[in-house]
Amino acid sequence: MSETVLPGGADLDDLLSREAIDDPFAFYARLRETGPIYWNRRWNGWVVTGYHEVVEGFRNHTKLSSDRFAGPFGEELSAASSQYQQLFAFLSKFFVWKDQPYHTRIRSLVNKAFTPRSVESLRPRVRELVDDLVESVRGERDVDFLARFAFTLPIVVIAEYLGVPPEGRESVRAWSEDLGAVIFVRGNDTDRMRKGDEAMDHLVEFLRPVVAQRRCHPQDDLLSGLVQVVDSGDALSDDEVIANAILMVFAGHETTMNLLGNGMVAFDRFPDQWARLRDDPSLARTAADEVLRYDGPIRAMARWATEPLELGGQRIERGDRVLLVQHAANHDPAAFTEPDRLDIARWPNKHTTFGQGIHTCLGAPLARLEAEEAFHGLSQAFPRFTIHEKELHYVPTVVSRSLTQLHITFPGS
Ligand code: HEM
Repeated sequence: MSETVLPGGADLDDLLSREAIDDPFAFYARLRETGPIYWNRRWNGWVVTGYHEVVEGFRNHTKLSSDRFAGPFGEELSAASSQYQQLFAFLSKFFVWKDQPYHTRIRSLVNKAFTPRSVESLRPRVRELVDDLVESVRGERDVDFLARFAFTLPIVVIAEYLGVPPEGRESVRAWSEDLGAVIFVRGNDTDRMRKGDEAMDHLVEFLRPVVAQRRCHPQDDLLSGLVQVVDSGDALSDDEVIANAILMVFAGHETTMNLLGNGMVAFDRFPDQWARLRDDPSLARTAADEVLRYDGPIRAMARWATEPLELGGQRIERGDRVLLVQHAANHDPAAFTEPDRLDIARWPNKHTTFGQGIHTCLGAPLARLEAEEAFHGLSQAFPRFTIHEKELHYVPTVVSRSLTQLHITFPGS
């Protein structure tokens, strides 16, 4: 396989360098200059940075696999999987990490319960939660924004939507954070695996009786919807319902938290856009998508080749790893005019933050709704806000774009 020699030397191979983590726009722009795809020696795989190539990669689900339990990712996991059995028993049911036909089967069943209409019905409650959170930070000089606002909103919304009993919500929030460390590859290896395994144990034991109860006494919530769906005689087993509920809790809260945090940073950088949103709240919908494009909470998604293929003029061999860098695609001048500018009225806005193709984010309508309501509520309440950090830092992971902290002063009324 050919290696692309990068201007600037080997440091461009380090996807976890300070520059790559804290200033990805500049870093990925330099990578993109070398071409839309290159072989990264450190990551030991292809890194795709061009918009059209990233989209093509997402759409090619027949040759680019999402399966984390086979191919090169499976080899890495196999040692850990025998030690942490509960963790892997349920992670291996997450349909996001599966290919057809398992993925298609689960996704079609889940789609019947998780509908755009059921999400839209949550809007009044999301607005109420945003209003309460806005009031709780009004006039405060040092708000830990991620913990107090950005984490709270999505975890409460997804817990209520699923129908997680109120007494378990705090625990579910803590367990799902431990699970996030495994999934987003944060922290020391042994420790995060052990904690993730314990967290999975707790989540499964907590959800099992709730699911059993919903089978006998369905309520107006997503867990009841999931246990009831039937498609051509097929239905989800209890373990599949539990695994999917866990997938939604973890997929839905950390990403949305980071979206809200990154959004406040983006608006701080472009105060004219904050004022514009305040003057014209009807822009909240496009503003949410523009923040998703400009500084979305996911940097990149990985795949591996089940067959040889061509992408961006390179030949990818069977078994090669491929990293589709959404952050780079979203700033590609070939697809967006003035990509480094936040323009809350930008439309159409075909960003790649929710992925593309068969794995396109299931929760996209929910994430959009929460972001729309949050930025709307905050901009209406606060004409200005002040970020305390002189320098912003981000968690060093290849996959997610998450601030380590964000402290904000919000004016009083
Ligand atoms: C801003 C917030 C979010 C972002 C940026 C995001 C991003 C993504 C991306 C990029 C994928 C595709 C993964 C791949 O192709 O390998 C995905 C899949 C998924 N997301 Fe989200 N997500 C967000 C919020 C949510 C929410 C709120 C939920 C659920 C309640 C959710 C549930 C899922 C699920 C279940 C999948 C798997 C879909 C499949 O494989 O068919 N996400 N998400």
